[in-house]
Amino acid sequence: MSQESRKNSLTQQTGSYLPPLHGKASAWVCGSEEAEVLYKQALENPEEFWAGRASQLLHWFKRWDKVLEADEERHKYRWFTGAKLNASFNCIDRHILIGRRNKAALIWQGENEMDVRCFTYQMLYTEVCRVAHALSSLRVRKGDRVALYMPMIPELVIAMLACARIGAIHTAIFSGYAEGGVRSRIQGAKAKIVITADAAIRAGKKKPLKANLDPILEKCPSVAHVVVVNHANLEDVKMQPNRDIWWHDLVEDFTLDVDFPCERMNSTDPLFLLHTSGSTGKPTGVLHSTGGYLTYAAHTTQWLFDMHDDDVHWCTADIGWITGHTYGVYGPLALGATVLMFEGVPTWPKPDRYWRIVEKFRVNILYTAPTVIRSLMRLGEAWCERYDLRTLRILGSVGEPISPEVWQWYYRNIGDSELPIVDTWWQTETGGAMIAPLPYATRLKPGSATRPLPGIDATIMRDSTSPDMDTSADRQSGHLVIRKPWPGIMLGVYNDEAKYQSYFSRFGCYESGDGAEVDEDGYFWILGRIDDSINVSGHRLSTAEIEAVLASCEEVGEAAVVPMPHPLKGEAIYVYVVTRDEVPWTDSLRKKLVETVRRDIGALASPEYIQFVEALPKTHSGKVIRRILRKIASGATLEDLGELTTVARPEVVQHIIFGHQNILLGMHESASMDVERDHAERAGE
Ligand code: WTA
Repeated sequence: MSQESRKNSLTQQTGSYLPPLHGKASAWVCGSEEAEVLYKQALENPEEFWAGRASQLLHWFKRWDKVLEADEERHKYRWFTGAKLNASFNCIDRHILIGRRNKAALIWQGENEMDVRCFTYQMLYTEVCRVAHALSSLRVRKGDRVALYMPMIPELVIAMLACARIGAIHTAIFSGYAEGGVRSRIQGAKAKIVITADAAIRAGKKKPLKANLDPILEKCPSVAHVVVVNHANLEDVKMQPNRDIWWHDLVEDFTLDVDFPCERMNSTDPLFLLHTSGSTGKPTGVLHSTGGYLTYAAHTTQWLFDMHDDDVHWCTADIGWITGHTYGVYGPLALGATVLMFEGVPTWPKPDRYWRIVEKFRVNILYTAPTVIRSLMRLGEAWCERYDLRTLRILGSVGEPISPEVWQWYYRNIGDSELPIVDTWWQTETGGAMIAPLPYATRLKPGSATRPLPGIDATIMRDSTSPDMDTSADRQSGHLVIRKPWPGIMLGVYNDEAKYQSYFSRFGCYESGDGAEVDEDGYFWILGRIDDSINVSGHRLSTAEIEAVLASCEEVGEAAVVPMPHPLKGEAIYVYVVTRDEVPWTDSLRKKLVETVRRDIGALASPEYIQFVEALPKTHSGKVIRRILRKIASGATLEDLGELTTVARPEVVQHIIFGHQNILLGMHESASMDVERDHAERAGE
């Protein structure tokens, strides 16, 4: 088929795109008929369907007694009970046993072009065993928590798999988090060990990590040891005797003592803990199981990316987020694939970095976030046109809604108007993708994550607290919920049963916290968070966490944090502050508040705008009406807000609107320059 006719076969028909099927007879799911059979099987007999996937994809030391044990009253779902397995064995050992020992498991590209490291499955095995021995010598045992505050370096993957081998629960902390963000996560996990590096390297600069940790550790009594990777050759790294150990010194002792036998884990034992932003000031510690999670990670990786043995798979997400766990480590390695890992950012030293990497390593599958595409789109096509991107076969998107315009740019410029775009909707709590197309089977509509995957019973529900949601003739909107359990569902919330139950309290089934619309074809269009989370550049942040930091400043009486639309970040952080008596509204106070948030949570939580206000709009019973604040930050006028009968002092609202307009007029230019610089640097995380 000629290039031209290929493209014609994909021409837009009623706004949707047909996936290319030519030469794809080898696809794991080929064509819509085959897909429909799978949808039907999963619907009619879900347990048989999941059991089939679990046996096809993983190695189990012992088979399960029951596929699913469900306690519907307490919403506890335990997958593959009675079964034994080990995630590290599944991601390494068995590939060695079946002839992949010399296959590249992990290719690492450092920020410097010449910094490349490659681990075959055999080499990964050796390193993971050494580190498992080393951790064990520090008395890490099954069930202990090990915090990983590390940059995107191979040692992070090795540490994860070493923990999995021992049965210790790793808890990764994104390296962009600053003091408060790191402290609450280490304390929340009661981690015994922290593994870190001297520094991360980002856009040509060394950003210290170990030095950030030191003051935090004074308030983390559970931590017995800190293991430090010398990554950036930073000078003057302070090591506390008896507590801090260099990674290379620790591991050196175990060069010869290679094999570390895998712990036989129950399927329902936790594999890892990952904190995400919830509706309170405290991060939610999402706990994932070994058997269910790994099955779901491998299953979705294989089908969504049509993963084959010869593929080079590049998930650009930082491993500090769930996307990096599932599609950067566990899913692809469980399938014996080759994973590419990149330390740097998309725009440094130039905005062609991603495309250089695709050409250099002949990447086949690229999974990235709309925020990255938006920032590269702004810088123009010239940066990608000069590279050979023909090895790409599948493009993925995750983290936030991708607008049709951005979708089209990705499709045309990176996909040469013929590659399927797999837009995947999911969350930390779901373990893997839930709503997404099957690349060679599902008709695509730009901007829609398409349909729930086979076996995923997603729908939308409405209740009396969501009157804002409209239902038009051809679209239904409401809260996005999942009605039936799936293997990737979280095991629980660490030490917080009430928080776990809150996911089920409103509808009696899993509530995602997102709003969505479903069109006449059953396609889902994600509207974004309905709860008090903000999605900045695909990163989920909690408004309550930011408010708590602001409220700790002596000048602040009250603070309310809401999302505002942003052309690059998707959403940005807009802050309303009521100062304490007599505190003047100055730019230096604004700067101080921004600095405080950056220092405490991290640069990713940096407020875009801070508006000082006399008072916040409240109900007669004194509750802040966030809905109004959200609308004003999005540019609503008084008329747009309609009736204000629930507001105790309606004149407050008018003042806030006036102040908002002044802020935009006065600050827009300088703020947006800062934002662009910052965004370009951070987008790749
Ligand atoms: C949002 C990231 C639209 C959503 C995997 C969700 C998306 C939150 C998409 C979870 C998508 C993720 N389209 N929105 N394809 N993917 N989201 O826990 O609001 O970091 O609730 O997991 O990201 O963020 P989390």
